[in-house]
Amino acid sequence: MAEILVLYYSQGGAVREMAQLIARGVESGGAKARIRTVPKVSANCEATEPEIPTKGDPYVELSDLQECAGLALGSPTRFGNMAAPMKYFLDSTVGLWLKGALIGKPACVFTSTGSMHGGNETTLLTMMLPLMHHGMLMVGLPYSEATLSTTQSGGTPYGASHIGGAMDDKPISDDERKLCIALGKRLAETALKLAS
Ligand SMILES: Cc1cc2nc3c(=O)[nH]c(=O)nc-3n(C[C@H](O)[C@H](O)[C@H](O)COP(=O)(O)O)c2cc1C
Repeated sequence: MAEILVLYYSQGGAVREMAQLIARGVESGGAKARIRTVPKVSANCEATEPEIPTKGDPYVELSDLQECAGLALGSPTRFGNMAAPMKYFLDSTVGLWLKGALIGKPACVFTSTGSMHGGNETTLLTMMLPLMHHGMLMVGLPYSEATLSTTQSGGTPYGASHIGGAMDDKPISDDERKLCIALGKRLAETALKLAS
């Protein structure tokens, strides 16, 4: 069965919850979801994370990217952009880029942001850039998803999103949830079509 890598970083848990919803959508689209995360990075170069996390999802390996038929990439918004741990991981994928290993694979992006206009869409758009350098095919959300026109919080044509609020206390809304699942499903269906 084709597998889709759902790769995320999350500090407070919102993007992790979105990853689980995207995975649900992937599985409803007929593929298997492989959920992975990335370790934190530290300004102290001597600090190291254990190779296997003590709790939560396993850390991603480069082979996960190579083996999976598609990629859903999620990160919290940090100053209008993806979080450093995800960027740090992406910077380690140059060997795959040199081999063209991800060319033609479909990918989508998702994020959680504190405020409504604090970089939700810029994070999604800038997360696409390294994936396009890899030759991946970006999958977004079309307006045939009626929720896209009615959501009062997150959810964009560029990918799934959540607005967590200044205190990070807003749960994922029903509309945001629906759009996470729809995005995962669309990604899986696209991967299966491309593979056939
Ligand atoms: C260093 C830092 C920078 C942030 N930058 C932004 C930002 O530019 N815009 C915004 O709306 N929220 C910003 N936030 C808030 C996070 O995006 C928000 O809390 C997010 O929902 C966290 O996701 P998580 O629960 O998966 O970690 C920032 C948070 C931190 C810690």
